[in-house]
Amino acid sequence: MDINLCKIIDFPKITDPRGNLTFIEGHNHIPFDIQRVYYLYDVPGGAERGGHAHKALHQLIIAMSGSFDVILDDGKNKKRIHLNRSYHGLYVCPMMWRELDNFSSGSVCMVLASNKYDEDDYYRDYAEFIQAVSTK
Ligand code: TYD
Repeated sequence: MDINLCKIIDFPKITDPRGNLTFIEGHNHIPFDIQRVYYLYDVPGGAERGGHAHKALHQLIIAMSGSFDVILDDGKNKKRIHLNRSYHGLYVCPMMWRELDNFSSGSVCMVLASNKYDEDDYYRDYAEFIQAVSTK
């Protein structure tokens, strides 16, 4: 998949003096149905997460609190995206190697996913991922 398919999505933001509100509807604001939500928190300084690609899973990554970087790699091109707004989400298409680092202290990374957890959907070996994208 081309890295340019992965984009920042700007979600609706209902501003209110009592506090702002953002909402996300599957297949409306993001190009998939939400089957699973997970989040990373209490990430120690200097830690890296990710380091894998998914065969078929679509995901959306949001910095719910604080900030961190997502490094995307489609096997040909790489880009580093800084996330620091809870009304922005990074859409990550299938067959995209991703790494997350530069977590600020107290940051929370929420991920919306198009399917349930399935270890068979992962490429955890970078060489295997490169082999798979180059034979496509
Ligand atoms: P992993 O996807 O490798 O984490 P990250 O990419 O955020 O660094 O998952 C870490 C561990 O958690 C791994 O043993 C699988 C397990 N896990 C689940 O059981 N369910 C889930 O929904 C996720 C995302 C992970």
